[in-house]
Amino acid sequence: QELQLKLEMLEKGGFDHFMLKEIYEQPRSIKDCMRGRIYPAEGKVQLGGIKEFAEKLKNIDRIIIVACGTSWHAGLVGEYLIEEYARIPVEVEYASEFRYRNPIITEKDVVIAISQSGETADTMAAIEMAKERGATIFGICNVAGASIPRLTHAGVYTHAGPEIGVASTKAFTAQVTVLTLMAFYMAQQKGTITTSKLIELLTELDNIPEKIQIALESNDIIKEVAEKIKDATNCLFLGRGSGFPVALEGALKLKEISYIHAEGYPAAEMKHGPIALIDEEMPVVFIATQNSSYEKVISNIQEVKARKGKVIAIVTQGDTEVKKMADYCIEIPDANEAFLPLLATIPLQLLAYHIAVMRGCNVDQPRNLAKSVTVE
Ligand code: AGP
Repeated sequence: QELQLKLEMLEKGGFDHFMLKEIYEQPRSIKDCMRGRIYPAEGKVQLGGIKEFAEKLKNIDRIIIVACGTSWHAGLVGEYLIEEYARIPVEVEYASEFRYRNPIITEKDVVIAISQSGETADTMAAIEMAKERGATIFGICNVAGASIPRLTHAGVYTHAGPEIGVASTKAFTAQVTVLTLMAFYMAQQKGTITTSKLIELLTELDNIPEKIQIALESNDIIKEVAEKIKDATNCLFLGRGSGFPVALEGALKLKEISYIHAEGYPAAEMKHGPIALIDEEMPVVFIATQNSSYEKVISNIQEVKARKGKVIAIVTQGDTEVKKMADYCIEIPDANEAFLPLLATIPLQLLAYHIAVMRGCNVDQPRNLAKSVTVE
């Protein structure tokens, strides 16, 4: 038994849980994901896995992203990035809904299927249907040789390494990294981005692993915040722009491992319903970093404070404005808006983790959940 325990400890690399180990692996997993794919000095992205479709990418009408759960959240981030940089319309669909609709798909469409495990039944069925209708299918998977990479025409692996914790962490940030690379690659192919802009963006992307390392250093502060809100029964997560999928992901992490009811919303949607829930018992987590929606988020924070909600804000290092209003602030390094999801997700993963541990939950194997959902 003692040996068994020691073995387990070894497997977890000295961390108490696989989830925590995987959260801390992110500076490395993102580096692995970018290795050999970005050339910052030349302003070039190379994606060997989809190279043979480089010409086709110049003329596609739209992209449909299909996925489930956390992978679907990564897809929403991808939508922002691909539309922003490659100017290709993107639709993001739950695979389980898409497969049972009668969607309009043509040979000119590219479908991107995202799946950590590569075995999710609904995502596989969505791929099969789109393939029958003539679309080109790209996969973004973590597990090499899984069913989805075998079903797709081409793809880009995330190279995050095995993910044991049922709650996806490093696979999510690797999926977002691949989608960022795809957006830049498509922009490069279509000529919607200049080389100098790509040099600037890729140079910054290359430094994101170091910034994630810095974000991880807020762990002690996050633990203190967790202590304050661990007994909540509900929690709201709000963000705008690409901060919205981050909010959704933060809420999913919290609900799946701590069993606290949590919802993610676009911050501006709050006044169309969720604001009714806000009282002094309600923690509201804001993605309030200094980017294009900063001022708008600040007014949303004021709305919550006016109703005595407890505000926890993810802010840019050195922020002073939000600090005046929020109950607790967690800093992340400053970065171009394109990379915000990669950084802002880190404190939310740690927050969910600590709350779940404090509530005595089984962090790595939450009740009722399986690592890959191979049935409908
Ligand atoms: C993530 O934390 C969840 N456990 C779950 O939503 C997961 O992302 C979903 O089941 C999709 O899995 P896949 O990426 O392996 O297809």
